[in-house]
Amino acid sequence: MRMVDIIQAKRNGKTLTKEEINFFVEGYTNGTIPDYQASALLMAVYFKGMSAEETATLTEAMVASGETIDLSGIEGPKVDKHSTGGVGDKVTFIVGPLVASAGVPVAKMSGRGLGHTGGTLDKLEAIDGLEIEMSIDKFIEQVNKTKLAVAGQTGNLAPADKKLYALRDVTATVDSIPLIAGSIMSKKLASGANSIVLDVKTGSGAFMKSLEDSEALATEMVNIGKHLGRNTIAVISDMNQPLGYEIGNANEIKEAVEILQGKDVTDLRVISLTIAAHMIVLAGKYDTFDEAYKALEGNIENGSAFEMLRQMVIAQGGDVNQVDDLTKLPQASNTIEVKAPSAGFVTAIDAESVGIAAMYLGAGRATKEDDIDHSVGITLLKKVGDEVAEGETFAYLLSNTETAEDAEKKLLSAYTFGTEKPEERPLIHKIIK
Ligand code: URA
Repeated sequence: MRMVDIIQAKRNGKTLTKEEINFFVEGYTNGTIPDYQASALLMAVYFKGMSAEETATLTEAMVASGETIDLSGIEGPKVDKHSTGGVGDKVTFIVGPLVASAGVPVAKMSGRGLGHTGGTLDKLEAIDGLEIEMSIDKFIEQVNKTKLAVAGQTGNLAPADKKLYALRDVTATVDSIPLIAGSIMSKKLASGANSIVLDVKTGSGAFMKSLEDSEALATEMVNIGKHLGRNTIAVISDMNQPLGYEIGNANEIKEAVEILQGKDVTDLRVISLTIAAHMIVLAGKYDTFDEAYKALEGNIENGSAFEMLRQMVIAQGGDVNQVDDLTKLPQASNTIEVKAPSAGFVTAIDAESVGIAAMYLGAGRATKEDDIDHSVGITLLKKVGDEVAEGETFAYLLSNTETAEDAEKKLLSAYTFGTEKPEERPLIHKIIK
């Protein structure tokens, strides 16, 4: 088999065979296929696309390129979730305990963040002593004991994706739906769950800006999951403004805890309950979504969901006093008020700019080597549809410096004020099964 023939076939719009796709993935991973040929194929895929079958085969080959995590030591069905990422997305800290409170084990492997705010692991490390690096044996033991563990990825999962993603990044081939779908799903599938709920964000603060693209990506990922024998569904949720009111690290943990304690931050509570309810239905715990949703609301009311988070923090060596008393979480030294330049309604909040403003404060990384300051971030007081008076404070910058002009400017640029109250957007756009 010759790589040039595979490139030519795809360039001419042909469907690649399983053998051809495997030849490419194996050869590129072990270095026998050079970057220039891999780049040419990626560009041909970018323009000609891939069938559902080709995409599933590509994903399977990327899974097979490395280790896979064997979760068979965990009793019961294993359900995972994945978010395509957004600003203020602290859903994992709410969904994990909720699902565990329904008796369904959650073995969640997460990553760190690059740019904007931190990733799931960075946010968890706002809790003193909380250990996120653990062996797979300890990870499984903890899930069997407490029903919930959130840890860093162990093992060399989907190395082909790692290499291909780096190449796509520098060859303008990232935003191809089959390549994105295959990339995300290869890592999920290698992590060992039987069932997966995908939280595909859509809107200005999301990777996919339009509903049409988000739906196409969600459909492609659901197809891959099903093709490879996993129950998979996707929830398309709104990311036209940040999720909840807190953006940062410690303050996002605080908001997640408050939801688990029963606070009604509507968007965050609804999205978390929706994803968790789909997860426990997929796990076979409930027959219908409505039943599952109601049961989980009950577990917030009776405190069992919050208790699951406490037990996880204790099991991972974290200081549980900080979740019992949220004022003990890292606090920034200054609160800088950001005031509305004119009266009216908030008509839009560009989530990405809010994320960048938080990064300027030190809540995220501009480069891989940067350290994160867990105490800083942004608290929004007004969201889309809220009315403001001229000069009214609409957000706080939680800062460790006296002034934070860059962050303030960026946050101001993220907000649009208008005279008319905007129409409400749905929080959940669609479920793809
Ligand atoms: N995230 C991934 O993991 N892969 C992509 O291709 C895009 C986003």
